[in-house]
Formats: sequence, C-alpha cells, structure tokens
Amino acid sequence: MKIVVIGGTGLIGSKLVSKLRERGHEAVAAAPNTGVNTITGEGLAEVLKGAPVVVDVSNSPSWEDAAVMNFFQTSTRNLLDYEAAAGVGHHVALSVVGTERLLESGYFRAKMAQENLIKGSSIPYSIVRATQFFEFVKGIADYSTADNKVLLPPALIQPMAADDVAGAVGRIATGSPLNGTIEVGGPEQFRLDELVRRALAARHDPRQVVTDPHARYYGIEVSERTLVPGDDARLGETRFETWLNQSVGQIPSTKPRSAA
Ligand SMILES: NC(=O)c1ccc[n+]([C@@H]2O[C@H](COP(=O)([O-])OP(=O)(O)OC[C@H]3O[C@@H](n4cnc5c(N)ncnc54)[C@H](OP(=O)(O)O)[C@@H]3O)[C@@H](O)[C@H]2O)c1
Repeated sequence: MKIVVIGGTGLIGSKLVSKLRERGHEAVAAAPNTGVNTITGEGLAEVLKGAPVVVDVSNSPSWEDAAVMNFFQTSTRNLLDYEAAAGVGHHVALSVVGTERLLESGYFRAKMAQENLIKGSSIPYSIVRATQFFEFVKGIADYSTADNKVLLPPALIQPMAADDVAGAVGRIATGSPLNGTIEVGGPEQFRLDELVRRALAARHDPRQVVTDPHARYYGIEVSERTLVPGDDARLGETRFETWLNQSVGQIPSTKPRSAA
C-alpha cells in the first residue's frame, strides 16, 4: 500500500517510514527537503497520487503562539483539501495526550485546531494521541532551566519511546479508519521532577532539579493527572531505563539550551 508520511524525515516520521517499508508498504517520506511543503502546497498533488493513506507526523518549525497556530491550521487545511481531490481514504494524525487540558499553551491550542479540522473534514480519519516521547525529556529540562536549576512540578507523566510511537501509528495507519481518537502511552508512570532528575543524572548533566508544586510545565499549570492517558490507552513496551541505557552513549552534549 502507498502511504504518504508528512513529516517523514522527522523523529517519528523517519522511524515510521522504516517500519512501514519493513512491512512491505510503499512509504513515501514527504517534507520540504523531499519537495513537499504542506504550507505552500508544493509537491502535494503529485505525492498523494495513488495513496489511500496519509499520515501527518509533521511539526511546526516555530512554537511561538501565532506561528504554530498558522502552521497547523494552514498545513492541515491544505492537506485535507489535496487529500479530498486525490481520493485519499484515511488521514492519520499524531497529537498529544491531554491536549484539551493544556490549552493555556499556544502549541496545544494549535494541536486542538488541527484535531478539529480533521474531525470536521469529509476524509475518514484516525487521531493518535501520544504521551511525551523519552527523546523529549531533555527538552523539558532545558525549557524549565533558570540559573542552572530545573524547576518542575511533581505531576505524573507516562512517557514513551519514539520507536513505540512510530509502531503504534504504523499499526493504526494500516488498519481501518477509527473516525475517532486513540491514546498511546508508555509502560510506566513517573513524577515529572524525578524523571528529569534521572535523565540528567544519566547524562552527567550537573543541573539540579528542584521540585516545586507551583512550577509550570512548558509554561502551563498542570495538576497530578494532566499529562497521563486514560485507562484505555495502548501501552508501548520500552521502559525508560532500557531506553536511557541504550541512548545515553549516543548523546552528544550536556550543554543546556533553551527549547522551543
Ligand atoms: N514531542 C513529544 O513528546 C510529542 C508527544 C506527542 C505527540 N507529538 C507530536 O508528534 C508530531 C511529530 O513530532 P516530531 O518530534 O517527530 O517532529 P520533528 O522531528 O520536529 O519533525 C517534524 C517534521 O515535519 C516536517 N515539516 C516541517 N514543516 C513542514 C512543511 N511545511 N511541510 C511538510 N513537512 C514539514 C519536517 O521536515 P523538515 O525537517 O524538512 O523541516 C520534519 O520532517 C508533532 O505533531 C507533535 O505534536 C509530540
């Protein structure tokens, strides 16, 4: 089956393309550097020809409020319009667990707008909401760093490996449209502050993690269960400790930088 992966060169997209090809599908990585741009429409009509399924795992280059809203609205509208013209029968999109609880952030308002456009279109769809990727934990630390200290609330978090996200999205993409939303998460829950403490220690990152119930997550006030999925979520297999042991040798730098 021809499956077009929008954002197919990104973290999830590249893993998804490999997995789909291993299973014998014709997976096409679509991104600006392969000649497909969902904002301008460049290359969309050509790449969608003969594709029954499109998976959108793209992300906005900027997370500034107006820019990210413009990205997800324009990109999703263009995609859905071109898909309708091409006769695509299944639109799959990757979103985030708890999006409706995180609307204080412009990023999540944009993800909600993306979801609503998909639900309002005529194309059969599946929305896969994933929890935070293990690969994203350092980004959380960087965003929450001030004066070399990382301030985080002890909220629950159930992160998962990007590889397991790609596996889950691949299974949904090769099945029938859900015309609904499914949640995927990791196999274990952690306290956010403790998770980041473990991730930094494994990298010999000297930053101290300070637990502060009033600290924000990406500028958002979160409560105990804001970030965790419901009881019906499908769970990935990879445990954080296993991933950390495998990935820590490949980490190039421990230097803090600002995220987003
Ligand atoms: N981070 C998390 O923990 C988390 C959790 C749950 C869900 N998600 C969702 O997962 C999705 C994928 O995230 P990711 O980390 O894999 O993203 P990523 O690594 O930043 O990759 C983004 C992809 O989008 C492509 N792209 C950017 N602008 C484009 C355009 N105008 N047209 C077509 N493609 C474009 C990029 O191509 P270029 O490289 O060529 O620019 C790249 O292939 C996001 O939608 C995010 O909301 C993330």
